[in-house]
Amino acid sequence: MKLLVTGGAGFIGSAFVRYLLTNRDDVQIVTLDKLTYAGNLENLAPIEGNPRHQFVHADICDAAAVTAILADGSIDAVVHFAAESHVDRSILSPGSAVETNVRGTATLLEAARTARTSRFLLVSTDEVYGSIEQPTEADETFPLNPSSPYAASKAGADLLALAYVKTYRMPVVITRGSNNYGPYQFPEKLIPLMISNALERLPLPVYGDGLQVRDWMYVEDHCRGIFSALTKGTEGAVYNIGGGNPLPNIEVIKRILKMTEAPESLITRVTDRPGHDRRYAIRVDKIARDTGFRPSVSFDDGLAATVEWYRKNTDWTSRVKSGEYRDYYQRNYEWRSAGIQG
Ligand code: NAD
Ligand code: TYD
Repeated sequence: MKLLVTGGAGFIGSAFVRYLLTNRDDVQIVTLDKLTYAGNLENLAPIEGNPRHQFVHADICDAAAVTAILADGSIDAVVHFAAESHVDRSILSPGSAVETNVRGTATLLEAARTARTSRFLLVSTDEVYGSIEQPTEADETFPLNPSSPYAASKAGADLLALAYVKTYRMPVVITRGSNNYGPYQFPEKLIPLMISNALERLPLPVYGDGLQVRDWMYVEDHCRGIFSALTKGTEGAVYNIGGGNPLPNIEVIKRILKMTEAPESLITRVTDRPGHDRRYAIRVDKIARDTGFRPSVSFDDGLAATVEWYRKNTDWTSRVKSGEYRDYYQRNYEWRSAGIQG
C-alpha cells in the first residue's frame, strides 16, 4: 500500500509516519509538507533513510504540486493531516486557517478525484461539534456548531469532503479525533506548553477558570485509530476517535506539576480565550463496532511518557521555541497576562 501523507512533518502526521514505517513492512509513504512553523523534519529523523519513505516539500494549496504526485495513480490512499491546527493562532489571524484547511483540502480532494485515488482519509476534529453540554456526548450525526475560526475551517473541510462523497461517490472517510498529546507536539498546545514551562519553572497560563474539559488521547492511539478507519472503515463514513480521558484543564496541569516536581505557584490565571468551548465529549462506539479500534494508553501512562520525552529532548524544545515562537508567545500571552484574574 502506498500512502500520500499530508502534514507528515507535524505532530500527529509524523507520529503516523513513524508508527507505520516501524510497524508495517507493507506500507510505502510519500510525505508532503509545507514546513510551516509547525512542520519540522527533525520529527521524521527516527525514520530518516528508510527506503519506503519519500519527502516532498510542497503546499497543499498548490494544485500543480499535488496533482503531480497523484496523477500517475501509484498512490493508493491519501491521509490528509496538513492543517493550521491551533485555535489561538486562528483567533489572532484566521486567514491561514481558512486558506490551508478549506482551500487546501478542496485542492487535494479535487486532485484525488481527478486521479481516481482509491481512498481519501480526512483527519478532522471533535471541535467541529462545538461545546457540548453535560451529560451529552456527540455522535457522528451531531450538528456541526464550531466556535473558533480553526474549528469552522475544519468543519468547512468536512462538509466539502462529504459533498464529494454525495456528488462524485468519492471514497472518503472522515475521522474526528479528540485532543491529542505525546512526544514532538509543538509547545503552543496545552500539554506540551505546560510541561515545557514547568520544566523551565516558567508561569503556567491558565485561561479563565481552568474548568474546561477536553478528552485526552495519546497520539499513538490516534494513529492506530486513523489506520483502522483507513483500512477497515466504510466508504463515506465519519468516525469519532476519542481517548476516553475527559479531564478539566486544571487537573491536567496539576498532574504535570506533580510529574515535573514544579511548584503550584507557577499556575497563573490569565484572561480567557474568546469563544472558549467549555466541554468536548464524543461517542466512540461506531469506530469500535466497524473496525474493532479502542484506545489503549491510560492518561497517566501517556502523560508520564510525554513528560519523560520533553525532559530528554530539551534540544528539540529549545530549537522550536526560538525565533517565531517568541513572537507568537508575546502576541498570545502579553495581553492576557495584563488581564490576570488573580
Ligand atoms: P501540527 O500543527 O503539528 O502539524 C500540521 C502540519 O501541517 C505541519 O507539519 C505543517 O507544516 C503542515 N502544513 C500546514 N499547512 C500546510 C500546507 N498548506 N501545505 C502542506 N502542509 C502544511 O498539527 P497536528 O496537531 O499534528 O494536527 C494534524 C491534524 O490533526 C490536523 O488536521 C488537525 O486539525 C487534526 N487534529 C489535531 C488534534 C490535536 O489535538 N492536535 C486533534 C484532532 C485532530
Ligand atoms: P489547546 O491545546 O489549544 O487545544 P484546543 O483549544 O484545540 O482544545 O487547549 C486545550 C485547552 O487548554 C483549552 O481549553 C484551552 C486551554 N489552554 C490554557 O488554559 N492555557 C494555554 O496556554 C493553552 C495553550 C490552552
